[in-house]
Amino acid sequence: MHPPVDPHDLDRDLPRAADILRSAERVTILTGAGVSAESGVPTFRGADGLWEGSRVEEVATPRAFERDPALVWRFYNLRRENLRRVEPNPGHQAIVAMEQRWGDRFVLVTQNVDGLHGQAGSHRVLELHGNLHRTRCTRCGMIEDRGLEPLGDMPSCSDSACDGLLRPDIVWFEEMLPEGVLDSARLAVVGCNCLLVVGTSAMVYPAAGLIPLAQHVGAAVIEVNLTPTAATDQADIGLYGPSGEVLPRLLGLLDRS
Ligand code: OAD
Repeated sequence: MHPPVDPHDLDRDLPRAADILRSAERVTILTGAGVSAESGVPTFRGADGLWEGSRVEEVATPRAFERDPALVWRFYNLRRENLRRVEPNPGHQAIVAMEQRWGDRFVLVTQNVDGLHGQAGSHRVLELHGNLHRTRCTRCGMIEDRGLEPLGDMPSCSDSACDGLLRPDIVWFEEMLPEGVLDSARLAVVGCNCLLVVGTSAMVYPAAGLIPLAQHVGAAVIEVNLTPTAATDQADIGLYGPSGEVLPRLLGLLDRS
């Protein structure tokens, strides 16, 4: 157990974190659902989390989709519909500004499927768990960006000669991550001097494994979260507060010496 968060710690730790970040030649950021929470996208775990009160295996596994694809699509269609009403928040924007600062010495690795980093203007993004905007045909494998258009409960492939059932192009429990993306994320972590870990409970692997990997290669780890997490013991500094406030403050300190 970690001691309760003292808000005064943030005033003390933000300048320390800014010093570390400023001196980093290469920066990698790992984000989770918390970075989108202030946009109105529910997180997965904890009070009001998506997995709270619903059984993950009923909607987020390949077996669930085989058993009842319409039920699974209804769940993801609701998520897609909610995304029509949300906008990137100042946390996403601060991450865009960090990419601009470090350029090709910066990589953003996200577990989020909401596409909000791209919408905010991030370009160097590795999406570990796919993206809710995309569909994948279960018959021909074609991947398409369908944006947030309504798809119905049993959407079929837009290639009429195929007509296979579509699925969301996201990673479910018990599935492998998209080819190459995890390798690229590991390379980004191994090559960085500082890993900023934002808004993730650090409970889902292999994504969470990137944090001990950073520690192993001697990169500084800075955690930004509302509360301490499973990653806290691996972090050099923890900045506890909403990422939509903490990240802009951190960014603001970067230009001061
Ligand atoms: P979780 O829901 O597990 O964790 C969200 C984290 O965000 C928690 O640690 C919260 O304390 C923190 N948080 C909430 N609001 C915040 C805020 N305003 N500012 C900063 N932090 C905040 O979400 P993930 O760690 O992203 O996978 O979950 C990982 C994966 O589990 C997801 O990608 C998803 C899920 O199953 C798939 O769907 C494959």
